[in-house]
Amino acid sequence: MKGVILAGGLGTRLRPLTNITNKHLLPLYDKPMIFYPIQTLVSAGISEVMIVTGGNSAGDFLRLLGDGSQFGLRILNYAYQVREGGIAEAIGLTRAFVGGDRFVVILGDNVLEGSIRKHVEAFERQPGGARILLKEVPNPRDYGVAELDGSRVVSIQEKPAVPRSNYAVIGVYMYDEFAFDFISRLEPSDRGELEVTDLNNAYLERGLLQADILEGWWSDAGSSIDGYLEANMKVAGMVRRASSERRVE
Ligand code: DAU
Repeated sequence: MKGVILAGGLGTRLRPLTNITNKHLLPLYDKPMIFYPIQTLVSAGISEVMIVTGGNSAGDFLRLLGDGSQFGLRILNYAYQVREGGIAEAIGLTRAFVGGDRFVVILGDNVLEGSIRKHVEAFERQPGGARILLKEVPNPRDYGVAELDGSRVVSIQEKPAVPRSNYAVIGVYMYDEFAFDFISRLEPSDRGELEVTDLNNAYLERGLLQADILEGWWSDAGSSIDGYLEANMKVAGMVRRASSERRVE
């Protein structure tokens, strides 16, 4: 299983913090934001990762992360996205790296409390297709939203004005190699991007999409300045709890 982290985009919602650097290099409590999605993949047992980035700060990722060995990665590769063409476009850039393998994509601004290992293992047992993770949120309009029939996803809408549920599709996606064929057939949305929601719907329409509900908190640290602050506070709580538990032992 390969891993892909998306760290391109302009980070306009966090300006002026992102005027001279990439959003994913900003601090989240005690570490640069990009460290957290790397750790999420590593703790799921993934050791071959590609980071997609872009813009003027792309070189800073190499200076910060190097060959990835500080995280225990066996392979860390980089891809450069020339313009903000959307999450699905960024995924498409990893085709040669992924080859015929399955892969887990995580958005570089998504931070999770718990491990995704059991979801990755469930995906490995799946005959093929894709797997997404859902989380109930108070503000579904800000995300991709899953319409549910019981526990089955029947459609996904990107940032709908009238959400059909409170379940956000979080920024962790698992795909087989056919993702790249689906991406090559996507059309840009009204905002000119190839949308990950359209990619997920392509799997859904063919009956090839599974979904799990995520346990533990999840934060989209790049959604707004308040989302960034909230993510910092959640990470601070988690790090402090872990260090006081270590002191007790
Ligand atoms: O956080 C979960 C949400 O992420 C999902 O619920 C939505 O369905 C999905 O579209 C996405 O929404 P956002 O508005 O949060 O996406 P954003 O533009 O912030 O991009 C998310 C990450 O993807 C960000 O860390 C940078 C990266 N990215 C984004 C774009 C548009 C790229 O690498 N390249 C891009 O072209």
